[in-house]
Parts: sequence; C-alpha cells; structure tokens
Amino acid sequence: MARSGKRWGQARSKKKGTFNPDDPRRVKHTRIGVWDLYEEQNPDFEHIPGSSWLEKLLEAYACLPYLLRMLRDILSIRSCWFLLVSYLAADFLHSLLPAASLWYNQTRTVDKNQLFHICGGRIACTLGRRLLNHALQELRGPLSRRLKQQYSLHLFHARARLDLPTFEDPMVQRQLEEASSTSGSIAWDTLVMASGIVSTSIQVVSQVTVLSQVLGAQQDGFLLAVLSFSASLSEWVTRWTVLANGQVWAATTKDKDYIRMVGLKHVVNNTEHRKELIAGNLSEFMTSEFKEISERVGPDNAVDFMEMRRISRGRQRFGFLTFVQDPLRELPQIVFTLRAVQYPASMPVSLASLNLLQQTTSQFSYTLWRFFEQTGSVTEQLATVRRLYNVGQIPNRIPDGKVPFPEDAQKIQHGVALEFRNVSFRYPGSEQYALRDVSFKLSAGQLCVIVGANGSGKSTILKLVARLYDAEEGQILLDGHDIRTLRLYDLRQAISVLFQDYTHFPLSIRDNIALGDPAHFRDDDRVRRAAELGGAAEFVGRLPEAFDTYLERPVRDYFSGIPEGTTSLFGRNIDYSGVRGAGGMSTRSGPTLSGGQMQRLAVSRTFMRSVVSEDAKVGLLLFDEPSASLDPTAEHDLFARLRELRGNKTMVFSSHRFGNLTRHADLILYMNDSVVVEAGTHDELLKRQGEYARLWMLQAQAFL
Ligand SMILES: Nc1ncnc2c1ncn2[C@@H]1O[C@H](COP(=O)(O)OP(=O)(O)O)[C@@H](O)[C@H]1O
Ligand SMILES: [Mg+2]
Repeated sequence: MARSGKRWGQARSKKKGTFNPDDPRRVKHTRIGVWDLYEEQNPDFEHIPGSSWLEKLLEAYACLPYLLRMLRDILSIRSCWFLLVSYLAADFLHSLLPAASLWYNQTRTVDKNQLFHICGGRIACTLGRRLLNHALQELRGPLSRRLKQQYSLHLFHARARLDLPTFEDPMVQRQLEEASSTSGSIAWDTLVMASGIVSTSIQVVSQVTVLSQVLGAQQDGFLLAVLSFSASLSEWVTRWTVLANGQVWAATTKDKDYIRMVGLKHVVNNTEHRKELIAGNLSEFMTSEFKEISERVGPDNAVDFMEMRRISRGRQRFGFLTFVQDPLRELPQIVFTLRAVQYPASMPVSLASLNLLQQTTSQFSYTLWRFFEQTGSVTEQLATVRRLYNVGQIPNRIPDGKVPFPEDAQKIQHGVALEFRNVSFRYPGSEQYALRDVSFKLSAGQLCVIVGANGSGKSTILKLVARLYDAEEGQILLDGHDIRTLRLYDLRQAISVLFQDYTHFPLSIRDNIALGDPAHFRDDDRVRRAAELGGAAEFVGRLPEAFDTYLERPVRDYFSGIPEGTTSLFGRNIDYSGVRGAGGMSTRSGPTLSGGQMQRLAVSRTFMRSVVSEDAKVGLLLFDEPSASLDPTAEHDLFARLRELRGNKTMVFSSHRFGNLTRHADLILYMNDSVVVEAGTHDELLKRQGEYARLWMLQAQAFL
C-alpha cells in the first residue's frame, strides 16, 4: 500500500534568508572523516507538524489560487480527462480496501455461513487490491507523462523568454532550477499529493469506524488496541525523525591531502589533460604521488561526502529509542498473557485475533503517520506550484519599447544611422566601467571599425546596440530614436550581430545556419546560399552527413558489453572514455571542426538573415572580430565579401588587428581601457601621429 514516487517528504530548499555555517547558535558543526558538516539546528522544531502551524497555513492559503489554476490547466489538457477521472476513481476504491479487509479479518463465532462469507470477502479484497494497484500503476504513467509534457512547454517558454541580464542573475537561475524538478513533474507530484491526502483521510475514517465496531464487541479489545497502536506508531515516528533530521546543511573539506588526491584523480581521468600528461612524462610521477597521498589520507577518510554521510547515519540509527521499541512491541502479548492468567475463564480475545489486531493497528498507524507526513509537507508542495507559475512571470531587466521600427521598410535597405551619446556602462555586479563616456556618430550606410586591445570595450559597444544590456548613462540612437523607446523585436530585427563568443547550437549544421532567419527557416536554398557566401559550403559538403551533420549530438547513444573490436556504432565513433568517467555508456558526438570552420558557420548564420534575403529588414550589421580565427587569406576574402555584400547597409566591425579593413572605414574608433581614445578615418588618425598611428606602424611593419 505504500505509494511509489512520493517526493514531497524530502526536503527541497524552501527557506528564506541565508545559511551561515559560521553561526554557532544555529549551526552544528561535526567532523566526519575529512569532512566538515554544518547542519542547521531546528530550535523551533519547524519540521514537526503542528509547530508554526499558523504560518504554514497562511502560506498554503496564499498558494491556493495557483493550485486552482493548476487544476484548471490540467483539466484543459486534452486526453487527460478520462485518465484523470479513472485514476481518482481507482484511488478512491483503493483507499476503502484497508477498512474492508479489516472488516473481514475479524473472526467472531465459528459459524459455517459466516466463515464462507469472510473467506469470500477476503479473497475479494485481495483480488480488488491487486486489480486496483494494477490499474493505478497503468494510469500513473500516461497521466504523469501528459502533465510533464504540458509543463515542460511552460518551462521551455519561461526560460526562452528571458533576456541576458535576467537569465544571468543567480537568483533567477535558482528560481528556474527550483521550478524544474528533474525527478518528476511538479504538477504530477501535486496531484498525487492532493489525491493522497484525500485517500488517506478516507482510509483513516473508514478504518476507525470498522476498528471501533470490532473492538466495541470484544472485552479488553480497546486496551490491546491502544498498546499495539502505540508500539507501531513509535516505530514510524523514529523513522520519520531520521528522515526529517538536518534538512539544511552544507559540507566542505579543508583537508589539503584529500583535495590534492581528488585533483590528481581528475588529471588522470579526463581526456583534456592527456596531452600534458604524456608530453610532460608525468605518468609514473603522478602514480607514486597518488600512492603516497592516498596512504596518508587513509582508506577510511578517502571517501566521498555522500558515502561518508551514509556511513555515519547508519551509526546514529542504532540509538536509544530502538532499545525501547522492541520491548514495547512485546507489550500487548505480555498484557494478554497476564490477563489470561488472571481471568482464565474469560479469555478476552483469541490469540489469533490478537495477532490480527496487531497487524491491523500497525497498518492503521502507518496510515496515520502518512497523513501527518503528507499534511506536514503540503505547504512545501503548494509553494512549488507557486514557483512553477511564477517563473513564467519573471520580469525581464530590459524593458520593451513601444515605437515600431523602421518607419519606412524600404529605407532600411540603405542602412540606419547609429549614434552613441556619452554612454557609460558597467556589467551587472561589476564595479569597473566597461565603457566610459563613449560618443560617436555614424551616418546611414557607413562602415565603422572599432580597434583596441583585448578588454578595451569593443564587444561591449556591440552588445549595447543590440540591447543585450542597457547603458547606465547616456543614450544610444538608431535613426534618431533612443533605442530604449523602440520595440525590442523590431530593434533586433533591424540588426544582425555576429558575436565574438558565438556558439553553435546542438542542432544540425543546416538548422544552425537557418536559425539566422526564423522567417525562412525551412528554405533550403537560402541556407545553402548563406553557407556559400559565408565560406562554409565547401567543407560542409565534404562531411558524411553534409548539412544534416550534428556538430554535437544532444542525445547520446547507449550501449553495453560491446566487443572490443567495435570502434563505431550507428556511424559514429565510440568514445570509451565516457565509460570510465560516469559509468555512462555513450558515443562521442559528431566531427570536430577547426576554429576557422566554426567561424565560417557562424558567419553563414548571420548572412542567412542579412544578406541572402532581399526582403531583409536588416539595416545594421555588427561583426565582433569575425576573422579572429581565420588565416590572413581567409580574412582578406571575408572582408572583401562583406564589403561587397553589405550593399548600402551600415556596418560596424571590431578587431584587435589593424590594417586590412581599417583603410576602408569611414570611422575608426581606437579604444583603450573602456574609453574611445581617438576617432577618425585612417588618414586622419595617421596624420594625428597618436596611439593609432604608432600601433598601425608597428603592425604594418610586422606584415611587410
Ligand atoms: N559578462 C561580463 N561581465 C563582467 N565583465 C565583463 C563581461 N564581459 C566583459 N567584461 C569586462 O568588460 C570590459 C570590456 O570587455 P569587452 O567589451 O569584451 O572587451 P573587448 O571586446 O574589447 O575585448 C573588460 O574589462 C571585461 O573584463
Ligand atoms: Mg571582444
């Protein structure tokens, strides 16, 4: 009768405030082996149902609207109705069974008819329990999967819609983390909890009714029932306190040897260090180091924390209460015997029915215990429902504007004007300015190149134009509009950006390029043309799966016990190193491309939107060091192609290299340490004989 899949008894982080391990008043420090465990003490016995009840009740009350909304949403999922009603019906019948079998457990007088009746009833109960268990089992799967699918869409959108500063915020990350449980789905768990509470209540009420009827008819029955009941209940309570203990804790180790030992293991286990390990002749040395250090740490201490905790918990459980419990369990038997000796004439109940009584009370106390356990965590579960709905409402840090852009769809083909007015910016959580008082002006159709050393603020300028972040001070204007007033969707539609730290999605090469322009996502010809213009078509064509190639397969293949000679499976190379690492079995994903090839793919993606489509609404092209991983010839080709393809669109480049493109620029911004130091055309800046001129001469000489 234990329900599988319950999770709400476990503690999830639900507390407000902070946890400070160094607070001796609230935190208990124990050393287990090399580990320091800091457990929060519960002076107010928060985890015991009944304490701080009012607070919990109020919190639960505040969550109720979310629960109702969830029920409405669940019922609105098509194909859930039938499953749900069947599940609830089966659960209802199932909860009546314990009382029914309790009823049929009583043997009163030896009466043939009644015996038949009882036998029939008990068989029916057993069969019924089996059938209902089976039905519940069968319904549980499909129902929970439907709920899971529905809410994974909810969570997908909740995550997808967040902007960068919001998504990067650790508090938001935590909020998202808490809303997406990995073990099941919040909706399903809540449903199970709600139906569990209802069915446990039914069980309690029906069992009490039957039990009192049965006991009322028997002498001393009540006394024995109380004794059996307290014995079994005390058992449940100890189990529960073990579970509920130390819900807020943190552990760390300061043991230098242990830390070093684990570090050595990592070096040897991971592929990434192999090159240095081999070339540095480290294998023998590392082995002897490891041997020495693991001897020093000792076998009883070289244990991972969770393992260590399990060991120490096993010891705790052998406590005082367990000593009391065993005699307590014998108490009813003893009382029974004493009574029998005292009044041999009137045996209270038969020995057989004493056993039955003990069985049933143990079952009953389990039900009761579960009821408390469930109601104790209702608040917590309801809070997860609230979190689940709240993540859909996390406000974005970058507020949307109202003004549509561009006013004239035709005009944008000829570029947009871009202006920075005294823009200063610090990244969230950073004290240092990434940009300080930056001003410049670009007319529609001009080419601007931002040069400067690493960390001088080039990328930041481009990120601010796309409103990945908002400037702290000053204004950024697009065709004379403050970009904060423009509709975000329109603004980003008008801009095409290739970021320096671009990434590839774990999707096919085709999809990676096509995502440059969702409006033409299914247009294979455009994808191909974008790849050609971006210089990727050639090497992609040479891959076995060409455009359908996954650079990184998001789904692993699984295998087991494959003969040694097998080097590839499903057309992919097997990565046996995964087996060692995680005990997992997987095949290494996809081919590895060079940095330059990756960059060509990224360029192709931006071309998909900005160049290939004649109807493109893009007026501003931003390229952040697009040639950083290209060789000089490829760089030259790319720039030539970009100048030719951009038509009349405004273009901004950033580069830490001088020359090549800067000579063609209408405006060069030379940046150093978050400020624009010099601005002008190549000739102007050379004439000025400043920093730009000095660095250009340096680099030009290196090239000549
Ligand atoms: N996400 C970020 N969070 C905090 N600081 C950042 C972040 N990105 C860049 N910075 C800092 O902002 C400054 C400018 O960086 P960036 O614009 O990337 O320089 P560049 O592109 O010229 O190499 C640097 O000091 C860098 O450390
Ligand atoms: Mg950069």
